Amino acid sequence: PSNNKLQSAQLGDQFSSTGFILAAIGSSVGLGNMWKFPYITGMYGGAAFFLVFIGCLIFVGLPVLLAEMAIGRGGRGSAVSAFNTLSGSKYWGAFGFLAVLGAFAIMSYYGVIAGWTMHYSLISITGSLFENADYTSTFGSFVGGYTPLIWTVIAFLVTGVVIARGIKGGIEKFNKILIPGLMILLVILMVRGLTLPGAGAGVEFFLKPDFSKLTTQSVLVALGHAFFSLSLGMGTMLTYGTYVHRQQSLGKAAVAVGFGDLMYALIAGLIIFPTIFSYGIEPGQGPGLVFMALPAAFAAMPLGNLFGFLFFILLAVAALTSAVSLLEVPVTWAMDKLKMSRAKAAFWVTLICFIVGIPSALSFGVLADFAPGGKTYFDWFDFISSNVLLPVGGLLVTLFTGYAWKRAGEEAGLTGPIYKIWMFLLRYVAPVLIIVIFLFSLGVIKF
Ligand code: PFF
Repeated sequence: PSNNKLQSAQLGDQFSSTGFILAAIGSSVGLGNMWKFPYITGMYGGAAFFLVFIGCLIFVGLPVLLAEMAIGRGGRGSAVSAFNTLSGSKYWGAFGFLAVLGAFAIMSYYGVIAGWTMHYSLISITGSLFENADYTSTFGSFVGGYTPLIWTVIAFLVTGVVIARGIKGGIEKFNKILIPGLMILLVILMVRGLTLPGAGAGVEFFLKPDFSKLTTQSVLVALGHAFFSLSLGMGTMLTYGTYVHRQQSLGKAAVAVGFGDLMYALIAGLIIFPTIFSYGIEPGQGPGLVFMALPAAFAAMPLGNLFGFLFFILLAVAALTSAVSLLEVPVTWAMDKLKMSRAKAAFWVTLICFIVGIPSALSFGVLADFAPGGKTYFDWFDFISSNVLLPVGGLLVTLFTGYAWKRAGEEAGLTGPIYKIWMFLLRYVAPVLIIVIFLFSLGVIKF
């Protein structure tokens, strides 16, 4: 059972209904939508991949999302104590701790990439990004130096301050301003992208399915991405759920968040593909797509530095609203378990997470050659958190809700056939699929 400090703090410090939905959208819409989704769509089959992704979002993502939110509100503690309270056993909480570690681990390198996006907004608006047309070497020398460290500090500072200000006065306020702001930026950039000459080829690539391009591998990537994109398996939605008031419908909130996530991914695709096709850039470029390919397009368009600035600010905002949800997981845990005040927990967790992230920030420079098993420090953190801890966390949520927690339906507000479908998906469909992606990403099974 959680301690009184957290419980009484929660009674006074909760999300409003829209505040919760916006904060959860803020968590789900992040670098995953704007940076990863476009390049994996480029690599794994364009529109056909997008359709599969939508299916995964609806049939696997939504049920797990609702389960996480319900566990949070039902348990009213951290990602550890919520499981213990609801199951009456200590063992579940031990697994919950993996989610706390996972969120912490993702944040340690997510803060680094958030920093890159801030740096790129600055050098777009000042125009220094466009001084040298070799964007690959510009990117390489930036991430290879020490400047990323300074930006990582800034990303962690912003995240820590927002969290220290609390749920309503910090996290809710931050998302209430930034999430609608994000939509405005997206629409401006989408109109710009769609009105470029030759934009149609990009739209076609993104939205016209060619099922011959689909492979088993692309289906698994889509499924894994649906999880990552909805911020599942890391206790973020669970932790936010802790601060939701009793009257709010979690089912409606989950649908709103799933829909919001999809919309932001759709629009991000409608910005990136028309823009790169219009300038003859290859879509399947991998992780460097937004940092190395898009600048060439911005350089060539009128007012390019302004559009470049808007684009990278968009990435930065999306990253920061996700970062806040990641760091809140260990912060709530520290408040609950170590009985710290919010301010103190925010301070220590932010500081330690930043320190753990320093080698990630240097993984493209001085530490680039330190790569045991062929992976740098950054790669290992990404690999272990996204490919190991995230599926394990997801599995925990599905098994717990499907088999162990008898009052799940009540907390989630589901009855009748919808409850039955939800349970079916949580008991049989989601766990099997999660195990398959898990084994696949570890290389145990191959397709
Ligand atoms: N959903 C975020 C994105 O799409 O970028 C990433 C993320 C945030 C993953 C929080 C996991 C998480 F717990």
